[in-house]
Amino acid sequence: MSTTTHERIIRPARNILGTLRLPGDKSISHRYALLGAFAEGRSRFSNFSTGADCASTLACMQALGAKVRKLEDGRIEIEGVAGRVMPANHPLDCGNSGSTMRMISGLLAPQQGTFTLIGDESLSRRPMERIRKPLAEMGANLTLTDGHAPVTILGAPLHAIDFTTPIPSAQVKTCVLLAGLQTEGATVVREALRTRDHSELALRAFGATLTRSIDSITINGPQKLHAIEAAVPGDISSAAFFFCAAALFPNSALILDGIGLNPTRAALLDVLTTLGARIAVLQLEEVHSELVGTVQITTDESGLRSTEVSGSQAAQLIDELPVLAAIGPYTSGGIRIRDAKELRVKESDRIALVARNLRAMGAEVEEFEDGLDIPGGQTLHGAVIDSGGDHRIAMAFSIAALRAEGETLIQGAESAAISFPEFFDLLDLVAER
Ligand code: S3P
Repeated sequence: MSTTTHERIIRPARNILGTLRLPGDKSISHRYALLGAFAEGRSRFSNFSTGADCASTLACMQALGAKVRKLEDGRIEIEGVAGRVMPANHPLDCGNSGSTMRMISGLLAPQQGTFTLIGDESLSRRPMERIRKPLAEMGANLTLTDGHAPVTILGAPLHAIDFTTPIPSAQVKTCVLLAGLQTEGATVVREALRTRDHSELALRAFGATLTRSIDSITINGPQKLHAIEAAVPGDISSAAFFFCAAALFPNSALILDGIGLNPTRAALLDVLTTLGARIAVLQLEEVHSELVGTVQITTDESGLRSTEVSGSQAAQLIDELPVLAAIGPYTSGGIRIRDAKELRVKESDRIALVARNLRAMGAEVEEFEDGLDIPGGQTLHGAVIDSGGDHRIAMAFSIAALRAEGETLIQGAESAAISFPEFFDLLDLVAER
């Protein structure tokens, strides 16, 4: 990521009104990029994520021999390597993207050649032992630096394993499935808490066969993938900022078109309903097994109530918890978050940064190892927010700022571009001042 930091001033708003269509889902775009680049043939994707993270995945796959180009109509075209990557003669830069580093490791471990994966300062602090362990169990030769990147992979044929994920992580699950795809025999991944299933759906869309039970996925390798054409659904984790913004004001009315509504990603809609917002799905369709729909959120004078997020819901809402926490003080009964200790090893320690920034705005908040207690009924004031270079912290506090007294200054606002470069422009479009 660039080292120049930009500040943004967010002024309070009166309401959120309008209709938006958002750029493509980051998780799905990563997977389509990886699988399209690995498949045989030419894939084309419309509404591909505009975030820097997915550009990192595309750049890595390009360095490994895939041909990537942007078509005149905005679609991304990828000509895949038909199952055999070219060893890159320089380190593969995953930027800020944990998804890129963890998932690509599984793709490369069974390939021929030596590969080095590097990342920015934040990514170089994030835990990679979680992928080294299962891949080593499969016989892979993968070395870390003190449990972190740089990651060096000496590619070799692997053997199938039956693996139970110790932490809920779709990235780890995908890493093992991508290695299993290229490995003789049945690779099984079991998970106690079901994480987002985009990889399972995407693998099938690209022609792979896998079997699923309530808590496991089995892939019999080796299998070949074939190019597809697809439209990426709008990113529901980006939509979360706008849903939460709308929920803050009485008489908001916001419609989001073409949003991904995969049930493993849509828990925020239930939480907002519990809090008192009215959510309506106006239209729904299926594209390559991913649900896509038009969602309307409206609110009334009665305001937001209270809720607790814990257990499997915490795992499924992990990316939305910062913004949910950021609107907590404006509810009447507060928001309690538990079982979310993974938040501490995201792009930043999101529990610590949420607590620190809420306090900077004058809020009372209690921090726990695995969550936060945010009492309701509080009045916040504008403040200087330290985003810690974390896109979701920068955006979450831009939403909290909409109902604060006075202006808020977001430091490191440029980090929003990691997942959602259009965020501030779209916020200006729907926020009534
Ligand atoms: C993602 C999985 C989650 C999530 C991340 C994207 C994915 O990470 O936080 O933003 O696309 O698989 P973990 O696998 O670490 O839970």
